[in-house]
Amino acid sequence: MKLLKSTTKNTAVNAGDVTNNTGNYTMTKRVYLDHAATTPLDKRVLKVMEPYFSEKFGNAASTHFFGEEAEEAVEKAREDIAKAINAKPGEIYFTSGGTESDNLALAGIMRTGKKCEQLVTSNIEHHAIIRTADSLKKEGFETKFLSVNKKGFIQIEDVEKALKKKTRLVSVMHANNEIGTIQPIKEIGEACHKKETLFHSDAVQTVGKEKIDVEKMNIDMLSASAHKFYGPKGVGFLFKREEIKIEPLMFGGSHEKGLRPSTSNTPGIVGMAKALKIGIIEMDEENAREKKMRDRLVKESLEIKNSWINGGFPKIAGCAPLGFDFVEGQSMLLMLSDKGIAASTGSACNSEGLLPSHVLTALGLPRVKCHGSLRFTLGRENTDTDIDYVLEVLPPIVKKLREISPLRGK
Ligand SMILES: Cc1ncc(COP(=O)(O)O)c(C=O)c1O
Repeated sequence: MKLLKSTTKNTAVNAGDVTNNTGNYTMTKRVYLDHAATTPLDKRVLKVMEPYFSEKFGNAASTHFFGEEAEEAVEKAREDIAKAINAKPGEIYFTSGGTESDNLALAGIMRTGKKCEQLVTSNIEHHAIIRTADSLKKEGFETKFLSVNKKGFIQIEDVEKALKKKTRLVSVMHANNEIGTIQPIKEIGEACHKKETLFHSDAVQTVGKEKIDVEKMNIDMLSASAHKFYGPKGVGFLFKREEIKIEPLMFGGSHEKGLRPSTSNTPGIVGMAKALKIGIIEMDEENAREKKMRDRLVKESLEIKNSWINGGFPKIAGCAPLGFDFVEGQSMLLMLSDKGIAASTGSACNSEGLLPSHVLTALGLPRVKCHGSLRFTLGRENTDTDIDYVLEVLPPIVKKLREISPLRGK
């Protein structure tokens, strides 16, 4: 949901200043703490992408030197990405992002089977999975949504119990986008393979941020999206083991072995490979840095009375999903935004109305606590100074909202 409408009236006085939708005041500070939604493009990534927009603009499918130049870059990116997750280059399919990869994995597999077959997933997946599963149900497939425990984790016994002869695919996300919980993927994959069932994981929140080895982690298919790891928007990939047959979602040319027709997004693909390389090289150091800042943010925020953290650990490094009684998350977001701090309520709010987040509801959180929840997700540009600022601004906002809250004392 858009909190501030864009304005054509620009009265900014300093670099970085912005006006609100009324144009009445300026913000001198901008602290971005919504990296689970998207990340800024790394300048090193932009640099390697640039030539492929202009002088190396060829269509990778063309049989002349412009095409060959682009094709070489696409295939080099495929090799690098495959290596990064311990897969083979021929197992990487370029897509437009996480949503398409998820749709392709689920619908692609299920539609190669019989209508009586089953898809097992969880009730905390991203809507790209949940709504694809709902749509497959309408097509006649059976779907089962596994519940998570109060901390937000899938229990292996529940996966084992759900696995039937008719189960064709299990899909469980690596890390959750709202609460950051990292699922026991290796063990879930192992349970699936014991029953000769395929295992897909939506790793959109972890690729480039956590170590991924599809062999060691028993993953047969995996979805990723470049804009979550400081790469460009509108590009992602699906890893699919060579021997697995899937149906395409779209029909057209023979790009990506006919599984994903349409002219290759060469700059995007080149940028994604570079972003992943940087992510892997800098991962340990960056995660340690973000974890330290996140832990301080969580610890000091929880000093505010009647507050809590959503979901248990392990969590992705920069994720701080917090909750405050007697306040409304959307109001907190607006007030933080007025102070130049960008956070999120996850999927607590959508265009259909103020529905509580399906993820928080799955944890067993009552509706009122879902609405008091807020997600800060840290990233590369954040510093201790940003955390100091949030810790200075957040307590008075919570206090102010509580003073006017009709929920107080109930
Ligand atoms: C876990 C997860 N899966 C899928 C997606 C969709 O990715 P994209 O925006 O690239 O379509 C997101 C984006 O927020 C996500 O967090």
